[in-house]
This record gives sequence, structure tokens and C-alpha cells, in this order.
Amino acid sequence: MSLGTFIDLCYLVAAIGFIVALKGLGSPKHARRGNVVAAIGMALAIGVTFAQPDLSHVWLIVVGMVVGVVVAVPAARLVKMTAMPQMVAIFNGVGGGAAALVSITEFLGSDPKVLATYKVLEVLFGVLVGCVSFAGSAVAFAKLQEIMTGRPITYPGQQVINGIVGLAVLGLALTVLVTASTALLWVLLALALVLGVIFVLPIGGADVPVLISLLNAFTGLAVAASGFTLDSNLLIVAGTLVGASGIILTRLMSQAMGRSLPNILFSAFGSVITATGGADGADERPVRTSTPEDVGVLLAYARKVVIVPGYGLAVAQAQHVARELADALAQRGVEVFYAIHPVAGRMPGHMNVLLAEANVPYDELKEMDEANPQMPTADVALVVGANDTVNPAANDTPGSPIYGMPIIHADQAQHVVFLKRSMRPGFAGIDNELLYNDKTVLLFGDAKDTLQKLVAAVAAA
Ligand code: TAP
Repeated sequence: MSLGTFIDLCYLVAAIGFIVALKGLGSPKHARRGNVVAAIGMALAIGVTFAQPDLSHVWLIVVGMVVGVVVAVPAARLVKMTAMPQMVAIFNGVGGGAAALVSITEFLGSDPKVLATYKVLEVLFGVLVGCVSFAGSAVAFAKLQEIMTGRPITYPGQQVINGIVGLAVLGLALTVLVTASTALLWVLLALALVLGVIFVLPIGGADVPVLISLLNAFTGLAVAASGFTLDSNLLIVAGTLVGASGIILTRLMSQAMGRSLPNILFSAFGSVITATGGADGADERPVRTSTPEDVGVLLAYARKVVIVPGYGLAVAQAQHVARELADALAQRGVEVFYAIHPVAGRMPGHMNVLLAEANVPYDELKEMDEANPQMPTADVALVVGANDTVNPAANDTPGSPIYGMPIIHADQAQHVVFLKRSMRPGFAGIDNELLYNDKTVLLFGDAKDTLQKLVAAVAAA
């Protein structure tokens, strides 16, 4: 077997590893194993790349890898779960930028006049999509990290301006294709960066994670294009996998939010505070508050308690104490499970990851479709830091920004207990009628503190 065939075989094994890994990542039970398989595939791919006889600039590659490891390993280890979306944004942006650079290098390194048309097309695609992804991800990172406002940034004529820049980019790309002009390629690069920024500016708040997933798909496609440019089958396969899974994830997230992708990308959702309530929870209506002791008794003598976790659980890092409470109730013979909304939190699988970290058994996690039929028979819905995902406005208030989004029917339980710190709304920025419902009581405070008090109260009941 020639060295070339051996290397190709190893790449094939690595590609199969990536596919198996994706399958594993599809369920919390196998996600860890999926990650390990992907890492082994990646290590194999990198290892055999060094065996290529015509590999040049080996030291430069090694230095690049060392810099990458030194930055990425501590970043991944230290990042808080709540900051995961911005880390994905920044890593994704760097990938898109790298794909664009590979495409440009290929263009500059060969005589553009004799470069086959399909190669120039790949270069153009890589530069355009890679730059949009790089610049867009940088803005998405800044929004999530609160370096700039997270709300949509809008101005008059925005869609028209975006459309003109988009058309200019396409026109320029066609011109480069015909003229093979290096100077114009640089102009295209600059304009694609501008397009990335202005495309993302009007997208805000809760829509940013969906945007990141879409940009992730873009990066995958740019990487696949650079795979064609470099004649690397592995890059083509890996890029296509990232592109395809990013697109599927984007679709699933939009569906779970009850919105279409164009609506998410172009409606500047959240820029206008709707008639359903103020962003700072300024509604003056009274709410019923309670004490941990009273709620402890309610929980301890219930038959069925459904815990509905949301973003606040992640902020408070209350997953361990939530499990403690569930265990304490289960020991008393109370039936307890967690109702998981697909977009609770700020990233896909956010609640699953948190609760898995606290070793909550998988069979206690019930997806929304499985949990909802059980809500009418629940004595208590304990809403821990969730808001939009239990907001009945999604069902009964046409015109509400979340109208049409499937929700967990906490309102159908006999009693509803909200654990939150204030009357501030959730990420969609709208009031929640369920907070004012007669069957609802509120326990104000950080979710972790409140849950600790509830554990003590249940023990004393
Ligand atoms: P949200 O509606 O964002 O509500 C979070 C609640 O947690 C707020 O009411 C907040 O109230 C409370 N909270 C925050 N910190 C807390 C703490 N330390 N202790 C106690 N409570 C705390 O959460 P959700 O129901 O999970 O909904 C998620 C939202 O994000 C949806 O609008 C969804 O569409 C959007 N989104 C999610 C995703 C993914 S993939 N998960 C992607 C895109 C968008 P206080 O400030 O008063 O405490």
C-alpha cells in the first residue's frame, strides 16, 4: 500500500469517526463518548497530515497549533456554562476566518489567470462565506458578552442598505470571477466583512444563539470550499458535516421557538417592547409571594411535582441543589420529574447538560411533548428560573412576540411556584400573565439560595 493510499484510508476512518461522533452527540447518554470519538478522529487526521511527504512550513504549523492549544484549552476549561454560546461564537468565527484565509492564500499563490474557473469559484465562496461568518460571529460574541448592547440595532432603511451591500458583494464576486483581479478580491473581502457586521446588527437577544448556529453552518460550508481548493477530502467531509448539522440545528431551534428563520433573521425581534408588558417588569399589578417554609409544606405533601428549569437555573448554578430537593421529595414518596423545554436556557441542550452535571437520572428528564400531558395531574409546577418557556401568551396572545412558540403547560398544574429574583421578564422581554394567576406564588431570590431553603423546609415538614 502506498503512503498516499494509507493517508487517504486514515482520513476515511477519521471522517467515519466524525459521523459516529455526531450520532453519539444526539443523546445525553452517549454525548461524552461521541466527543471522545470525534477527538480521536481529529487526532488521527492531524497525525497523518504530518506524514504527507510534500508538507512544507512544518514549524509554522506546529507553532500555530501550540498557540491554538494554549488559548483554547484554558478557555474551554474555564468557561462558565452560561458563557458557552459566546465561546462557540468566537471559535466558530475563527474557523470562518481561517477558511477565508486559506482561500485567499490559494488565489495569491497561483496565477489567477490560469486558475480553473471552478477553483476561483471555490475561492470566492470561501472568502465570502468565511468573512461573513468571521465578522458576524465577532459581533454575536460582543452582543452575548455584553461588550455592546444585546438588543437589535436598527436604523431607517436598514433592509435596503443590507440588500444593496449584499448585491454589491455578489456583483464584485462575479467581476473577480471574470477578471481574476487580486485587488478586487481584497475589496470583496472588506465588503464581506462589512456584510457580516450589518447582517448581525439587527438580530438581538434570544435570537443570537440561533444566529450562531446559522453562522456555524456557514463556517462549515466555507471549510468545505477550502477543502475543494486544497484537494482535501477530509476538509470537504468535515466542513459538510458542520454545515449540514448547523443547518439542521438552526431549523430545530427556530421550530422550537415557534418562529421562521427569516422572521428570526430579519424581524429585529425584541427591539420594540410590546403592549404585553415592559422590559423592566414595570407592571404594577399585585402578585402573591410566599415563604420557603409554606412552599416546603406544599411540596412535601404533594403527590406529583414537576420541576420546570430555565435560564435562571443556569445563572444561579442551582442544578445540584435542585437535584437535592428532587431526591428529598422522592424519598418522601413524591413523584418528581423535570420538564425540559427545547429552548430553555440559552443554548440547545442547556438544561440537559446542567442536570446531567448534577447526575440527575436521564429518565427523570422529560421532553416537553412527554411532560405536557402530565401537567394537569401535577400538584405543583416548580418553575426554577424559567419564564418565556412557560408564558401562556405563546398560546393565547396573538401579536405577542412569542405567539406560536410551544410551551411547557405549567399553568395546568394545581399550583405554580416561581423561583426568580424580581419581576423582570425573560429573554423575550415580555410580561408573563402566569405570574399574576391566582394559583401562582412567587419565591423571590436567587434560585440556589431559595432551593436550599426549600430542601431544609421539606426536611422539616
Ligand atoms: P427566560 O425566559 O430567559 O427567563 C429566565 C428567568 O430566570 C427570568 O425570569 C429571570 O428572572 C430568572 N433568573 C435569572 N437569574 C436567576 C437567578 N439567579 N435565580 C433565580 N431566577 C433567575 O428563560 P427560559 O424560560 O429558559 O427561556 C429561554 C429563552 O431564551 C426563550 O425566550 C428562548 O426562546 C430563548 N432562546 C433559547 C435558546 C436555546 S437554544 N436555549 C436559543 C435562543 C433563544 P429574574 O431576573 O427576575 O431573576
